[in-house]
Amino acid sequence: MDGVTVIDHPLVQHKLTIMRKKETSTAGFRRLLREISMLLCYEVTRDLELTMETIETPLVEMQAPIVEGKKLVFASILRAGNGLLEGMLELVPSARVSHIGVYRDHETLKPVEYYFKAPEDIAERLIIIVDPMLATGNSSIAAVDKLKERGAHNIRFLCLLAAPEGIKNFQSVHPDVRIYTASIDSHLNELGYIVPGLGDAGDRMYGTK
Ligand code: URA
Repeated sequence: MDGVTVIDHPLVQHKLTIMRKKETSTAGFRRLLREISMLLCYEVTRDLELTMETIETPLVEMQAPIVEGKKLVFASILRAGNGLLEGMLELVPSARVSHIGVYRDHETLKPVEYYFKAPEDIAERLIIIVDPMLATGNSSIAAVDKLKERGAHNIRFLCLLAAPEGIKNFQSVHPDVRIYTASIDSHLNELGYIVPGLGDAGDRMYGTK
């Protein structure tokens, strides 16, 4: 699918299957989310530009590669995005973090924004938005709208699962934002849940249901 990268690494697929199982405990789900988020982070940053720096090893001076440009920004769509954030920050500890509070009104399925915080200079940074579920796409669209309003233009969207309806909706508004996901599932149900999915990601990671 154009504009979408499906991360089909065997370890990602294996962990995702265990996360989908209804009998997986909150503790297990959280641990797997942390592990899978590192693997997803590895893939979403695979093509970052490198630049050479002169360093000294204990033996000699050498030219060695480092990631070019300003530090990345991980933008977490609250609350479920924070589950992905933790593992990603372990891999990229110097990343800046933006929090975007958008919840889905369960009746209208429309996003309601209640919080936004981001570094001042997001226009100069690569932003990776994280949210485990790209369902209707409405919250993701709202998050990208907000970041673009603040000048961001280099944005990627990382999730665990995406629904075809959500991808279509998202790409109709933000075709410039590449989507990275571990799976494109079958469809959305009438309540806006991804099928087969894994249930409510926030409830599963925080044990709130
Ligand atoms: N959000 C979730 O947590 N799960 C879904 O299936 C859809 C949206």
